[in-house]
Amino acid sequence: QNQEIGKVISENFRNIPDFPQPGIIFKDIAPLLSNPAIFKRITDAFVLALKDIDFDKIVILESRGFIFGTAIGLQMGKGLILIRKKGKLPGKVEQFSFDLEYGKDVFEIQSDALAKGEKVVIVDDILATGGTADAACRLVEKVGGVVSAVMFLYQIKDLKGEERLSKYKIINLHVE
Ligand code: PRP
Ligand code: MG
Repeated sequence: QNQEIGKVISENFRNIPDFPQPGIIFKDIAPLLSNPAIFKRITDAFVLALKDIDFDKIVILESRGFIFGTAIGLQMGKGLILIRKKGKLPGKVEQFSFDLEYGKDVFEIQSDALAKGEKVVIVDDILATGGTADAACRLVEKVGGVVSAVMFLYQIKDLKGEERLSKYKIINLHVE
């Protein structure tokens, strides 16, 4: 099952060299999203991977984490919490800056997004350096939440993101 979904994922990712900068190989998820049967299989695999995880809410990361996390939340009947790039969320927010493989970014979460001790699964598409997911974990904890797991479609193993997230349970549907 796991190997099978890994194959589906790797066959439906497109490697785009030198985007958005020279030397970066961009992982394009477009082929996998434009095929509803494949998107459904991936969503089902995420849901199955969460069957033994105790959690209350799904935290989804702008932009590409929104896509998968929304599908999972709908299928599992779990509420969604947004972590967005700077300046998009109204009201009181917590903020965390982080480095990316290409550039820098700032993430925000609404200060009242979670109840104290509420358990979450964080969902994103790709685990590369782990900077993005690490920022998300910190923001969840800043607002009183507990990270039950951090879940990705695809890990680029060479960038060692799992070391950065060593405190947390990591679920990858596919590891390259
Ligand atoms: C990509 C990807 C992950 C992150 C992984 O997002 O969607 O969120 O990079 O990299 P890291 O593990 O090294 O932090 P990107 O910042 O390109 O933005 P997008 O999701 O808005 O397209
Ligand atoms: Mg992203």
